[in-house]
Amino acid sequence: MTMPSIDLDRTHPFAEAMRASSIAMVMTDPTLPDHPIVFANDAFLRLTGYSLLEVMGRNCRFLQGPDSDAAAIADIRRAIAAGVDLTVELVNYRKDGSAFHNVLSLSPVRGKSGEVRYFFATQVDVTDQHRQTDELRHANLALAAALETATTLVHEIDHRVKNNLQMVSAMILLQSLDRSDLRLRDSLLDTLSRVEALSTVHHRLHRSGDVSRFDVADYVRDLLDDLVGATGRTDIRVRLDLMPVLVQAGKSAALALLFNELFTNALKHAFPPGKPGTLAVSIAREAACIVAVIEDDGVGVSPTATRLSTFGQSLIQTLSRQLGAETTIGPMSPSGTRVRIELPLAIVAAPV
Ligand SMILES: Cc1cc2nc3c(=O)[nH]c(=O)nc-3n(C[C@H](O)[C@H](O)[C@H](O)COP(=O)(O)O)c2cc1C
Repeated sequence: MTMPSIDLDRTHPFAEAMRASSIAMVMTDPTLPDHPIVFANDAFLRLTGYSLLEVMGRNCRFLQGPDSDAAAIADIRRAIAAGVDLTVELVNYRKDGSAFHNVLSLSPVRGKSGEVRYFFATQVDVTDQHRQTDELRHANLALAAALETATTLVHEIDHRVKNNLQMVSAMILLQSLDRSDLRLRDSLLDTLSRVEALSTVHHRLHRSGDVSRFDVADYVRDLLDDLVGATGRTDIRVRLDLMPVLVQAGKSAALALLFNELFTNALKHAFPPGKPGTLAVSIAREAACIVAVIEDDGVGVSPTATRLSTFGQSLIQTLSRQLGAETTIGPMSPSGTRVRIELPLAIVAAPV
């Protein structure tokens, strides 16, 4: 910005405008010894705390002090020598000794024949912006530290929960080795499968890197793989039509237990040895709910009887209630069983 040479006469409108400006401004005369201030406006006096008498005739370096950046000062020196514009930021000091961050913009003011007549500069105090940046940086550091603590805690809890579930599984397994009571052994093995379903949920949540959402379709796929694999049967076909559904992590345990109960039951009772069949599972999103359907073409149940144990039935009821779900179990034609679960959309995790 090269301004025309101006007369500093009080009555000149440019001089008046500069005087009245709320931006600190000075003019210096490079033709005088030590390049002194020849004009300073009130905003400059307010910013620096000096009186007009104290600043007139002095080189602006009196504003510098111990924290003024030597490289910025060298830049100013070069710009003045070259007669070019420059904007730099450096620490300056007020008369009372307090420091402020000054964004200094200076330009040569040339005379008619192009010679540098004056230098004109504005000073903008950006201390507040620095303070805000510092505060933000501190807040960010504190947040990062808090996040690290929380992550460590989550990992620690993950580790402990995993170990505890493993211990519970091991204890149930040990107890189930006692063959003196076969009914007790069967129900212990059912419990073991439930604990393992919970373990898998826990493992999946922590492995995914997002402990807040749980992918139901992925879980169902893996669970069926494991359960069908464990039967050792090659004549049970699995047909899946699963829409990806992410549910809130808080609902994952109940949902996993519900599926585990229904799948285990179908695999245990629908296909007696020598009876091949298909287990079909679909998950779809409808207008007001998520619908999961589990169908088998196995031996089926009579309308009055149920193949579910009393505990299994009440577990399904309790889990459905916890999820706000409607679970209906009925026969399939010509044979088999169909379970329909209507899950409320409220359990779906919000998108990130
Ligand atoms: C118009 C003008 C305004 C200046 N304003 C400031 C200022 O507000 N703060 C500052 O630290 N230096 C300011 N300077 C720079 C110093 O006056 C001086 O040029 C600088 O310290 C480099 O020279 P030196 O090495 O001789 O000190 C200004 C220079 C000019 C020409």
